[in-house]
Amino acid sequence: MRPLALWFGTMLCLVTSCGDGPSDDADVRVVAEPNLAQASRNYIMKCSVCHGPDGAPVLLTAPDLRTSTLGLEERVAIIAYGKGTMPPHQAMLSKAEIRDLALYIEAFRP
Ligand code: HEC
Repeated sequence: MRPLALWFGTMLCLVTSCGDGPSDDADVRVVAEPNLAQASRNYIMKCSVCHGPDGAPVLLTAPDLRTSTLGLEERVAIIAYGKGTMPPHQAMLSKAEIRDLALYIEAFRP
């Protein structure tokens, strides 16, 4: 039991960083809550070519993200697996990044 308890203690320390520098805390937050700054960068690099920087489409066949009414899970699925001429992004983005993007684009709605 003792080595196991020690292991848990160490893991807890790693995860919570035991009051260490703030940089470790930031890594934990990426998993816990959306990282919208990163989502914004990902959006500009990977989505704005077609969807425009603020959701107003550049590519004529791309839907206007400002007026999109899709739910979060539907957006996550389309970003991950693609749809029609929109390419899938699951190979280049993590699950968390995809979810954050799906949250991020909701801010385009009026
Ligand atoms: C190559 C151009 C292209 C890129 C890059 C692209 N999309 Fe798309 N996107 C489209 C097209 C075209 C559709 C419409 C697909 C369909 O309905 O057939 C679409 C549909 C969507 C939809 C569904 C909207 C709705 O209401 O139907 C969402 C959400 C979306 N894209 C988000 C993103 C995000 C986030 C990214 C970046 C990770 C991205 N797209 C990258 C072209 C693109």
